[in-house]
Amino acid sequence: MAKNSPTSQVRYGRRRFLNVAAAGAASAALPWIVPSSVFGAKAPSNRIQVACIGTGNQGSGILKRFLENDDVQVVAVCDVNTASHGYRDDDQFLGREPARKAVDAHYGEKTGTAAYQGCRAYVDFREVLACGDVEAVTIVVPDHWHAIMTIRAAEAGKDIYCEKPLSLTIGQGRAMVEAVGKHKRILQTGSMERSNPLNRYVCQLVRDGKIGEVKRVTTNVGYNNKVGPGPGWKPMPVPAGFDYDRWLGPAPDAPYHKDRCLYRFRFNYDYSGGQVTNYGAHSNDLAQWGLGMDGSGPVEIEYVGATWLPEGSLFNTALTTEFRCRYENGVELLCKTNERPVGVRFEGTEGMVETTAYPWKARSEPATLIASQFPSGGIRLDATSAHVRNFLDCVRSRQEPVAAVEIGHRSASLCHLGNVAIRLGRNVRWDPKQECFPGDEEANAMLTSPLRAPWNG
Ligand SMILES: NC(=O)c1ccc[n+]([C@@H]2O[C@H](COP(=O)([O-])OP(=O)(O)OC[C@H]3O[C@@H](n4cnc5c(N)ncnc54)[C@H](O)[C@@H]3O)[C@@H](O)[C@H]2O)c1
Repeated sequence: MAKNSPTSQVRYGRRRFLNVAAAGAASAALPWIVPSSVFGAKAPSNRIQVACIGTGNQGSGILKRFLENDDVQVVAVCDVNTASHGYRDDDQFLGREPARKAVDAHYGEKTGTAAYQGCRAYVDFREVLACGDVEAVTIVVPDHWHAIMTIRAAEAGKDIYCEKPLSLTIGQGRAMVEAVGKHKRILQTGSMERSNPLNRYVCQLVRDGKIGEVKRVTTNVGYNNKVGPGPGWKPMPVPAGFDYDRWLGPAPDAPYHKDRCLYRFRFNYDYSGGQVTNYGAHSNDLAQWGLGMDGSGPVEIEYVGATWLPEGSLFNTALTTEFRCRYENGVELLCKTNERPVGVRFEGTEGMVETTAYPWKARSEPATLIASQFPSGGIRLDATSAHVRNFLDCVRSRQEPVAAVEIGHRSASLCHLGNVAIRLGRNVRWDPKQECFPGDEEANAMLTSPLRAPWNG
């Protein structure tokens, strides 16, 4: 039996996953009609109309990056939390209403319209997807929502900026790839370290053979940065303004506790994959990029070790982890908990290079930076800003962004594979073409997770 896994794991096929339930109750605010004349020549109709779903810790930052682009109009925000403290830090005050106010204040200042109130606000993302004016959405919600929202958004014809890790399970990730491809949508995975010029440089050095033949890669994931209550924890009343049932969505029913939800969802396998998927979606993503393995993955995953909180703790993801992967070409990847959370070290026959330490010990001539897929307007040191710009460029050009859906899926898969090995406490073999664990029923059962009604279709 998988360690800390839900007791009722069931398999569901891709088709079944895609067939999730239809829209339900409505709870949106009425839209404000703003005459395009207030915007002058750059009327909203000439801009990419964006709606931001999830306006918490990361969502509020992503929203700002969209606002800083003049060819974007943020027309709506959506969150199941109206407003509250208690996101990443106790005093971080975020949610739907602060986001709406930020958007209105931004456009009010830009247009000199102090009373600007053009940003619509929603609780139910399905109402956002039903808006004909919305061309692209950001999905910056806990991981257990990524697949359903992405698939629905693709079906509704929206382009998608979806946060990392792209999926909660490998099965969900594959369904996302299929939906985005089928509906010809642009999807940027929020692995913005790919848009950090220094990381690009390191990966290009490796791909250009500057460290010789790559033999080993070490990737880091961080220690838990939050502490949850131990065994015997008591449920709490749901705060006013927080739609907890919608927050849970497809996840199993569970009593409310503040440490289950905002930001801290990372430490519970029902909603995420612990620091292996949280940080690993950056470090393992860079490893895959440097190795040229974007469309593939390892063939063996060796369990090295993991430590766990006492049974019955609210957080149930591993405290520390270590697993070793082997690719078909013999390259070895060691992923482990470390002080430097997003670090990656590539070791080759002629040198080594790290993303967190310069200069590299390799041949002397510099690599050419990966020229394609840079954001328009030149290199930006703010990786998130560059990543968002790359997405917007691709929405216009219909080219693949730097962290397109298959890339995001494969990078998340690498993290999920590590989690399968540590949760089972043993080695597993993986077929990256068929995306299954050959002859391993126990591991194959972990390719998917159950969906709560009405999301199980
Ligand atoms: N790229 C990065 O470096 C980076 C950094 C932080 C977080 N993230 C990712 O962003 C995502 C969100 O993380 P976070 O730290 O912002 O979490 P958070 O809890 O601070 O914010 C998530 C928000 O989503 C809202 N939400 C939940 N269910 C919803 C639903 N059904 N409809 C609308 N809103 C809903 C919550 O109320 C909350 O406000 C995660 O996938 C995380 O991995 C990425």
